Amino acid sequence: LTAYVPGEQPGSGEIIKLNTNENPYPPSPEVMKALSRLKAGSVRLYPDPECKRLRRRIGSLHACDMARVFVGNGSDEVLALCTRAFVENDGSIGFFQPSYSLYPALADIREVRQQRVPLGPGFEWPGSFDSNSSLFFLTRPNAPTGMAYPKKTVRAFCGKFEGVVVIDEAYAEFGRDHCMDIALELDNVLAVRTLSKSFSLAGLRAGYAVGAPLLIDALLKIKDSYNVGAVSQELALAAVSDTDHMRANVDRIMATRTRLAAALRGVGYLVCASEANFLWVKPAGIGAKELFERLSQVGILIRHFPGKRIGSYVRITIGTDLEIDKLIDAVARLSGKRSTP
Ligand SMILES: Cc1ncc(COP(=O)(O)O)c(C=O)c1O
Repeated sequence: LTAYVPGEQPGSGEIIKLNTNENPYPPSPEVMKALSRLKAGSVRLYPDPECKRLRRRIGSLHACDMARVFVGNGSDEVLALCTRAFVENDGSIGFFQPSYSLYPALADIREVRQQRVPLGPGFEWPGSFDSNSSLFFLTRPNAPTGMAYPKKTVRAFCGKFEGVVVIDEAYAEFGRDHCMDIALELDNVLAVRTLSKSFSLAGLRAGYAVGAPLLIDALLKIKDSYNVGAVSQELALAAVSDTDHMRANVDRIMATRTRLAAALRGVGYLVCASEANFLWVKPAGIGAKELFERLSQVGILIRHFPGKRIGSYVRITIGTDLEIDKLIDAVARLSGKRSTP
């Protein structure tokens, strides 16, 4: 078994951390207030196994009933549970290549086959393809490219796919649109979201799925009784109740994303159109791995994935404006060019 390799989490030091798509801004102040209001009883007792208040609130966010909402210990847990709930022992799991590198590990853990569907030459939707998998992980916007496939194409695929489609929308809040309506309309589709990115709560571990009650029921049946802790439930509730704060952070990040993309294009880098909180970039005048190494020597962590096709790219998380200024300076120095914007 080859384990999933998470991005590096350096313990201390003056590091500019642009490697794991965390949010550079703090969560809603309501989250810290909720933390300070917690009583000993809320950790002495077991939490609500069904996360009812949180599911109800998430339901109201997406104009649906709590019977259509499942909450997990991060969206990674939700994805893992989907591989247990929706795949037969002799079934397979489909996903695009490249997409989120956790999926192959989940298929291996579940001991089922993988159907990897290569994306087009520019990482776009690969035209027509057949998939007879039981479960398809469709990442939109995609990771690590940040690109969002046309919604019409996604809807048509979901409509004809015979198994369950999990639309992994970890970065949806940073995009132009989302597919929640498809999940609420079609019985074989779940949209999976996380509080780790747009809500600035990667350390909390909270994610959720929205879709048909039958699919949600299946996840509820197989989960650990208390899969989401009492503190997580309480703080997640505070976060999703303050979407204005989340939206303001997302807007700032999107503006910084535009600025960084222009600066990198200014030094000749190829930058994919991103609808996420990161950029997928092919450097010019320096190799991707070398760029990753040289930046880490000056305390800037980005992500480089080995591989024939993806190895010539790097993924850069959008940080604060100050962090991105420092990155732009460092890149300009390495490229021997001044960045224009
Ligand atoms: C596409 C995708 N899905 C899911 C996740 C996991 O998010 P969580 O922190 O909710 O487990 C990530 C995290 O990087 C991701 O990139």
